[in-house]
Amino acid sequence: MIRLCFVCHGNICRSPMAEFIMKDIVAKAELSSLFHIESRATHTDEILNGRGSPIYPPAQAQLRKHGIKFDNKHAQQLKKSDYNNYDLFLGMDGENLTYMRKILGADPDRKIRRLMDYTARGGDVFDPWYTRDFDRAFLDISDGCRALLDAVGQK
Ligand code: 4NP
Repeated sequence: MIRLCFVCHGNICRSPMAEFIMKDIVAKAELSSLFHIESRATHTDEILNGRGSPIYPPAQAQLRKHGIKFDNKHAQQLKKSDYNNYDLFLGMDGENLTYMRKILGADPDRKIRRLMDYTARGGDVFDPWYTRDFDRAFLDISDGCRALLDAVGQK
């Protein structure tokens, strides 16, 4: 079982898109039984009184547009105790990685990674919260997830 946790700031745009894009990719490869895939936030902006927001509507629209199924996921914050529950934590940008390290602490197993570093271009996922370009974010995340599957498949 390969346990993946996608992480972004709010867990309403990029990391839930990554969660459900990756679930779709592994389902199409008939590998779903080998994976456990979730997503988390570094911050609590979208978690009020213990209740996380649902996936942001424009991110839901992208998933629908590409025929990708998703459930009624609500934002949840990453916790230190999650470290042992996953094999890889995939941040969407460099700031996410800074806070993932603050939350998770020492990373002896080198589990904390940046998603786009699995692709030839590297760098950050284009952040749609600020750019409003959800098409571009979808393409970045899809490229990252396909490259991630190739990388874990080689192990
Ligand atoms: P996400 O997008 O990290 O891709 O879920 C954001 C959502 C909320 C905020 C920032 C980014 N915010 O500052 O509330």
